[in-house]
Amino acid sequence: MKVIVKKTTEQMSREAAQIFADLIRQKPNCVLGLATGGTPVKMYQELIRMHKEEGLDFSKVITFNLDEYLGLPGDHDQSYRYFMNDNLFNHINIKKENTFVLNGTAKDPKLYCEGYEMLIKALGGIDIQLLGIGGNGHIAFNEPGSPENSRTRIVDLTKETIAANSDGRFFKDPKDVPTQALSMGVATIMEARKVVLIANKSSKADAIVKTVEGRVSVDVPASFLQKHKDSVVIVDEDAASKLSKTYA
Ligand code: GLP
Repeated sequence: MKVIVKKTTEQMSREAAQIFADLIRQKPNCVLGLATGGTPVKMYQELIRMHKEEGLDFSKVITFNLDEYLGLPGDHDQSYRYFMNDNLFNHINIKKENTFVLNGTAKDPKLYCEGYEMLIKALGGIDIQLLGIGGNGHIAFNEPGSPENSRTRIVDLTKETIAANSDGRFFKDPKDVPTQALSMGVATIMEARKVVLIANKSSKADAIVKTVEGRVSVDVPASFLQKHKDSVVIVDEDAASKLSKTYA
């Protein structure tokens, strides 16, 4: 696991965007795994800037998102489909039909999740997967206890995650947050050829030290990334504040 510590959120975002941009230039039809939440917003802004100012071309890029709230249609302003359109897809030259976000209103969610896994494989697998991290160490919506062999499925959200997503940034009231979601599993994420996890703010410092320096455990799903052959953790100084070793 490679760890990169940057002074600011802006630098963290630029570093991560650069990794994605390098791949897009080298492999124009690459398959990207994307994430939602507050953390990647500035990275997406940097990719939009690169598209507008440097001609970064998304016309052949394919994307798969990690997760979606169960029951929310894509036009709901808190759905992750809406988030992705609003924060990235509407501002670059990606073909919408090449962007896959789990459908929270699928009629048969279990079957639908199996189809999502098949589609990822059929399109060649994910080249780079972007991840944020929850304060409890969750990745996508793989809450503590999610097994290493888990795949795209219906999951229950913890109270902590529901609270974190209704603290005024996203949902206004915890009662409005769906209690379940569809989420790629730990095994789905581990199959990506490269994984980039980004985290900023001191509220992530505990989760980051457990992820990077702790024991690999289902209690901290992000710790499984220690076993990935090409995983990079990019953090700002606040999120890095509890790490005991010094990283570049
Ligand atoms: C949600 C998402 C995760 C994300 C996490 C952290 O639970 N499902 O993919 O990493 O929140 O979000 P934030 O970046 O807003 O702190």
